[in-house]
Amino acid sequence: MSPRANWSYPTAIRFGAGRISELAEACAAAGMKKPLLVTDRGLASLPITANALDLLEAAGLGRAMFSEVDPNPNDINLAAGVAVFKAGGHDGVIAFGGGSGLDLGKLIAFQAGQSRPVWDFEDIGDWWTRANGDAIAPIIAVPTTAGTGSEVGRAGVLTNSQTHVKKIIFHPKLLPAVTICDPELTVGMPKIITVGTGMDAFAHCLEAYSSPFYHPMSQGIALEGMRLVKENLPLVVADGSNIDARAEMMSAAAMGAVAFQKGLGAIHALSHPVGAVYNTHHGMTNAVVMPPVLVMNRPVIEDRIARAAAYMGIDGGFDGFYEYVLKLRADLGVPDKLAELGVGRDRIDEMTAMALEDPSAGGNPVTLTTENTKALFEACI
Ligand SMILES: NC(=O)c1ccc[n+]([C@@H]2O[C@H](COP(=O)([O-])OP(=O)(O)OC[C@H]3O[C@@H](n4cnc5c(N)ncnc54)[C@H](O)[C@@H]3O)[C@@H](O)[C@H]2O)c1
Ligand SMILES: [Fe+2]
Repeated sequence: MSPRANWSYPTAIRFGAGRISELAEACAAAGMKKPLLVTDRGLASLPITANALDLLEAAGLGRAMFSEVDPNPNDINLAAGVAVFKAGGHDGVIAFGGGSGLDLGKLIAFQAGQSRPVWDFEDIGDWWTRANGDAIAPIIAVPTTAGTGSEVGRAGVLTNSQTHVKKIIFHPKLLPAVTICDPELTVGMPKIITVGTGMDAFAHCLEAYSSPFYHPMSQGIALEGMRLVKENLPLVVADGSNIDARAEMMSAAAMGAVAFQKGLGAIHALSHPVGAVYNTHHGMTNAVVMPPVLVMNRPVIEDRIARAAAYMGIDGGFDGFYEYVLKLRADLGVPDKLAELGVGRDRIDEMTAMALEDPSAGGNPVTLTTENTKALFEACI
């Protein structure tokens, strides 16, 4: 049968150093007169955030901010944000931050107009059609990390505060109307976040590239995304103020998220339960579990990874690629095992069940089973 698929790459991105200065213009383009800037607690007190609020105020758009956002944001954060959005009579959201601020901001713009609980819009089948699409407020996304790519995505990740399960909420209108990618905003990231988010971008590209579905456009984007991370992540870790390298990492992050509509895999299927149960950093968790997942998938992806290695200038086919990943992790100070992130063996069965139910699981090149997934957790911990 000839190939058949649904593709979508439509975000309008204003890319370049200093382009945060266009924030008010972006609000006009998105039709916002009273935006709510949503970010996390850590960013709330930083100068980059104050500058964004100053730009809004100077343009007569107010300086409203909501920042009760946890890392791995949850439904409690969402309910509080929706209440502030409604009480303030806001007409759009500026989602400002790393994946946590971006996702929660996007979800506030979405959920403020819905009457059903947010869990009814999980990324399953056509559940998104349950939403009232006309009631979704416009979103401007401003990433301050270079990793999740949530700024070009149509989903938000939300942790259930009761069950501690991470769910992906999906709607086509969660796609930001305008995205501002300004690499200067990422300069102040702590080194450990630069590493973790950079490895998240790499994991998105690697898993999208490895997933079995038909999507040659994603395939090409993922491949170039991996090359950009290889060339630039060591540079930004060595010198955080290298704007050109920061810009390339920002591109790689957006490319990873555009590419992973092709699918993710076991790296994310494992990382989501670990993050939900132990509150570990998402990208750093991905980096830790990456080598055992590569080993497991090897029989299916060996040739494909060898092609990627050749493109990236790595000798030695699959083995060379695997050694490259190990060396990159070591050079960047990524822990070798999940135990170093505080993960114990006592909840392996529970996390295995969660991994198998994770939407990323279906994109893994080797079908995930209870046995091989549990064995993967054993190898990673
Ligand atoms: N929507 C998606 O497609 C998608 C994809 C992958 C991950 N995620 C989600 O994204 C979240 C992780 O996002 P993240 O890795 O970007 O981390 P994050 O948003 O949780 O931020 C990590 C920390 O870095 C700080 N920070 C961010 N930018 C900074 C800057 N420029 N200067 C100084 N400090 C800064 C934040 O205050 C926070 O303390 C997780 O919840 C994950 O589930 C979403
Ligand atoms: Fe990710």
